[in-house]
Amino acid sequence: MKNKIPYVTTPIYYANAEPHVGHLYTNLIADTWKKISAMKDLPCFYSSGVDEHGQKVEQTAIGKGVTPRDYCDNISQKFLTFFEHYGMVSDKWVRTSSQEHKEAAQHFWSILDNNGFIYKGTYEGWYSVRDETYFAEADLKNGKAPTGADVIWMEEECYYFRLSRFQDDLEDFYQNNPDFILPRKRQNEAVNFIKKGLRDFAISRPKKKLSWGIDVPGDPDHVMYVWIEALVNYLSAVGYPDKGYKKYWPAIHLIGKDILKFHAVYWLALLMGAKIDLPQRIIAHGWWLKDSQKISKSEGNTVDLKTISAKYQTDGVRYFLLKTAKIGEDGQIREDLVKSVVFADLANSYGNLFLRVNGLIEAMLGGEMIDTPPLPDMLVNLVEDIEELKGFIDEVHKKPEEVFTYVNKLSDLIKKCDALITKSEAWKKTRDKAAALIYNFLHISKKIGILSYPIIPEAAKILLDFYKVEPALDSFDKPIMQIMANVERPVVFPKNR
Ligand code: MSP
Repeated sequence: MKNKIPYVTTPIYYANAEPHVGHLYTNLIADTWKKISAMKDLPCFYSSGVDEHGQKVEQTAIGKGVTPRDYCDNISQKFLTFFEHYGMVSDKWVRTSSQEHKEAAQHFWSILDNNGFIYKGTYEGWYSVRDETYFAEADLKNGKAPTGADVIWMEEECYYFRLSRFQDDLEDFYQNNPDFILPRKRQNEAVNFIKKGLRDFAISRPKKKLSWGIDVPGDPDHVMYVWIEALVNYLSAVGYPDKGYKKYWPAIHLIGKDILKFHAVYWLALLMGAKIDLPQRIIAHGWWLKDSQKISKSEGNTVDLKTISAKYQTDGVRYFLLKTAKIGEDGQIREDLVKSVVFADLANSYGNLFLRVNGLIEAMLGGEMIDTPPLPDMLVNLVEDIEELKGFIDEVHKKPEEVFTYVNKLSDLIKKCDALITKSEAWKKTRDKAAALIYNFLHISKKIGILSYPIIPEAAKILLDFYKVEPALDSFDKPIMQIMANVERPVVFPKNR
């Protein structure tokens, strides 16, 4: 299909817990990819949502004395509100309890069945409800799942997926596509897992043990194993089985490293079985850690994002998360770390450059605006860097992981510009020389404001509103018409906290 719309997915989050920084992070990458691309009107689509079925959600709801449906309605809304608080709205919000998702999942199942990849058998082994994962005896560590979660013994009739049939196809695929998973070490991990030998795996649960799920087509005594239908969300989000889904599919999947096997092995084999194109790539990010431990509800060690974002703005949190963890690596988050990055880069450099430039216009030039003055030699390099970052938008559009490079390039620009203002000593110059410097700095600060809009939208908006320009590339080379004398300058990023 021509004119495909680039499509990025986030995982869908279990509806048994409150949203936290791990969830925020993936959506932030997808959302920033879209915001950056939107500056050039480049087409983009990203989906996110909640994973509502399964034993974990059912047990949590029952434990709270509410129906799973009511419980999920509430959690789904909490996730939406949480993301909106950080200025993000996905193009599609998937709820796996929706009719459209149910139909897509059942259709997908029927295709696999018709293609001969499903059979009925019995499962005897361990299961971790917290991980919603089956484990063989050999997988256990001290009687627990490798994640530390409790396991229960299960013996039940179920349907199986013939994963073993895809051993050679998966090995060949990874051999021929060495850059399919980013970072490379995760691809090696997936390949090692495959090389150990793939076994068929259980893909349904008896309804008498778990009723909160999607019925297996033609057998209402069974519901689908939650991961199987959850993975289909990537298709149902764009309208599968309606052919129109091909306008978006294949997607780029953004995931956390802990759910690699489900995506890199199971999902690929399921798609091969259903004869659907494989995803474009998988980008597996690392974990946010607190005291070197993964932040998670089950560990009870979540960071207090509400307090952090109240003190350092949602922009501060966005900026910190996007700047400090290299894609694929773990990152530490603590209030003092957020504070130091936000103060150095935003409150000081970013806010400073705005205040200093505008202060100089008033002090040195009486607020008078002049036509485009010549570009002083000392600013040539900085202006080139700005143009380079503007050009880099196309790269981000092609590769969402480049969001990190974008933010770091932006950060370098901000600091370079602030340092150059000091170095220029514009205040010691003659009026003409000072005017050339200051007026150029003014335009540079406007351009930095525009380029920073996708990362720190609120702060950028304050800056650009003051200049009376739109946060769009259209305004990049337009003059600033605002009168600069005797006006109150806004605080772009507050310093005192
Ligand atoms: N429901 C499944 C995903 C199904 S996708 C078809 C699931 N949900 S989850 O809510 O447990 O986790 C979702 C994502 O959050 C995973 O990608 C996981 O890596 C990420 N994170 C959870 N804690 C995290 C951190 N502390 N840091 C970064 N991301 C982590 O798994």
